[in-house]
Amino acid sequence: MGRGRRLMHGHCERMDVPMKKQHIVLGVTGSIAVYKVADLTSRLVKAGYVVDVVMSKAAQEFVQPLTFQALTHRPVVTEMFTLHSEMAVEHIALAERADVLLIAPATANIIAKLRHGFADDMLSCTALATRAPIIIAPAMNDRMYENPVTQENIRVLQERGITFVGPGEGYLACGTMGRGRLTDVLDIYDAVKMVLGRRGDLAGRKIVVTAGGTEEPVDPVRCITNRSSGKMGYALAEAARDRGAEVHLITGPGSLRTPYGVRLTAVRTAREMLAAVEAATRDCDVLFMAAAVSDYRVAEAAQEKIKKSAGAPTLELVRNPDILASLTGDFVKVGFAAESQNLLANARAKLTSKGLSIIVANDITRAGSGFGTDTNEATLLFADGRQEDLPLMTKARLAHIILDRTADL
Ligand code: C5P
Repeated sequence: MGRGRRLMHGHCERMDVPMKKQHIVLGVTGSIAVYKVADLTSRLVKAGYVVDVVMSKAAQEFVQPLTFQALTHRPVVTEMFTLHSEMAVEHIALAERADVLLIAPATANIIAKLRHGFADDMLSCTALATRAPIIIAPAMNDRMYENPVTQENIRVLQERGITFVGPGEGYLACGTMGRGRLTDVLDIYDAVKMVLGRRGDLAGRKIVVTAGGTEEPVDPVRCITNRSSGKMGYALAEAARDRGAEVHLITGPGSLRTPYGVRLTAVRTAREMLAAVEAATRDCDVLFMAAAVSDYRVAEAAQEKIKKSAGAPTLELVRNPDILASLTGDFVKVGFAAESQNLLANARAKLTSKGLSIIVANDITRAGSGFGTDTNEATLLFADGRQEDLPLMTKARLAHIILDRTADL
């Protein structure tokens, strides 16, 4: 049992899925990339969104509407005037219902139509009539994409506030390499969450998050590092983005996917991380220091690879700067303590010595907690003495609770 009053948790806890059913109108146009959008649709439905699909005529040449109907459990709109569709009663019903209009894959043709305000089919009509934000994920041949007319259309639509995600670069269906392929569906999924969260409780806030372990060189081949995966920091960055914050993620080496819509700075050593965090926090509201920073580095890393024939080397270690403790400014500091013993006492000592508002303490010896896992069981300790024990949950959900408590401050 720790000191201080325990908080009841349960109020205003957020999930990593939307609380209220939000409506996505998904416009699908004629590109072979439509098969990837079936996967995206499935993800959106599983995450709890209501998805109404509108298909252009060309899209139906690639995939039957039944595919999307089966995935969304809802009728797919294929015609402007289909009498058996509930949408037929009013042709702008979809436009009004949408919380976001996503067009994926979007051909050069639909982009041109949107730029000029055509309304000759259900999708362009919906796009013209909606007040919801619009996201476009283009997919086309590289020459069509690079054509100045397409580029100009995209620029004009961006100036009108439409979000473009992608296209990506690589192998195209027509057999060439180039820019024009539908971007990673996970990025499109993230763009939807980001756009829907634009007016969230953290809108206008600048948040810096550090993640992952640092790496201290021993020689050009070896390094001293730790087991941090970066998952907690990445989850915080994504959760803050989805609540409207402008997020700068400073990360040590790792294999996690760069989150869409987040500014990312990659560093290696603790000193590189210090420099990046110093620069980023000059103008920020909150710093979440989830990185596992190496406490020591090798005094002088060898320039050449150390040979085993030279015998066992002795490494002289020196202290790294404590990033969190050394930074002061007009921003809230939230730290993390991963411990294998005396968790709460150690965490409380760090909360005080580093001048933190909150410290997230977790016992790395517990199953499902700590490095590399997708879940965590943490205790939050507050500067005013409060303590909140949280049950085992996904890092995504924990990230939202940490943001809730930080926002309360
Ligand atoms: O002192 P300890 O490493 O246990 O404290 C953990 C907290 O301090 C974490 O939030 C970590 O990111 C931060 N830290 C730091 N600079 C260091 C070591 C840790 O900012 N050199």
